[in-house]
Amino acid sequence: MSRYALVTGATSGIGLALAEALARRGRNLLLVARHREALEAIAAELAQRFSVEVLIRACDLSKPIQLTGLLMELEEGTYSIDLLVNNAGLGTSGAFVAQDWLQEQQLIEVNMLALARLCHSVGNVMAGQGNGQILNVASVAAFQPGAWMANYYASKAYVLHLSEALREELKEHGVGVSVLCPGPTRSAFFRKAALDDRRLASSKLMMSAEEVALATVRALDKNRAIIIPGWRNRLLAFSPKLAPRWLVRKISARINRRFLAHH
Ligand SMILES: NC(=O)c1ccc[n+]([C@@H]2O[C@H](COP(=O)([O-])OP(=O)(O)OC[C@H]3O[C@@H](n4cnc5c(N)ncnc54)[C@H](OP(=O)(O)O)[C@@H]3O)[C@@H](O)[C@H]2O)c1
Repeated sequence: MSRYALVTGATSGIGLALAEALARRGRNLLLVARHREALEAIAAELAQRFSVEVLIRACDLSKPIQLTGLLMELEEGTYSIDLLVNNAGLGTSGAFVAQDWLQEQQLIEVNMLALARLCHSVGNVMAGQGNGQILNVASVAAFQPGAWMANYYASKAYVLHLSEALREELKEHGVGVSVLCPGPTRSAFFRKAALDDRRLASSKLMMSAEEVALATVRALDKNRAIIIPGWRNRLLAFSPKLAPRWLVRKISARINRRFLAHH
């Protein structure tokens, strides 16, 4: 049976770069995102460039029926998933209480609920087989609360903690769990989250999705627990430990406020 790396959110940004980096290493892929045409074009390109098999599933991970359909297909065992990459995610910005609730709900559904269900379902199959690897995409945002992007920061803290805990639980079943915590990365993320990334774009903090993906596949080879690409981002992730919590939340609130697009 052919083995596949399942990558969610593979039509753009970090997910696309990860899919390409994995294909370059000869991995067959199962790519998931909402936009079928984009998936088809990417699958055709990667299959041709790297001579790998690329399957696609158009699925809105925020829609329980579509997600259940995908999970049922995966559980049938028609093909084997040896790497699950939960990358799909979205951000929102502004005052939490002033947000459109449906957007906030979608964030919770994609960033947390779908990720947890995929870990639960695919993780169970992997544990039964006695091998496999899971990579969940959190963010450096996971290391502190973040006013003005409150729900996003909280969702990434969930991903970080869930992944670290699952790593301990699944270790004895031969399944590795890693969590990727990128810092600011060039992608459509900021525009979609109504954030102004112009100042960030010109700073040294901003990495390309390709740089993030390369650092990630290398770290995955070593089964690293927490993957933070770039030393500046490692510093960013570590710095909240050095200050009292009241100060950390004030600083992150101040920084986030400066990036609100309408500010
Ligand atoms: N960019 C950064 O600075 C940064 C930093 C830290 C962490 N991250 C995290 O990295 C991950 C990827 O972000 P990115 O920067 O690459 O963003 P992006 O360019 O906006 O890509 C997001 C991907 O998720 C997919 N997606 C969104 N909603 C979906 C849904 N309801 N169902 C299925 N797929 C969905 C999108 O595809 P479709 O639109 O085709 O569905 C797209 O492929 C996210 O989890 C993000 O939080 C990003």
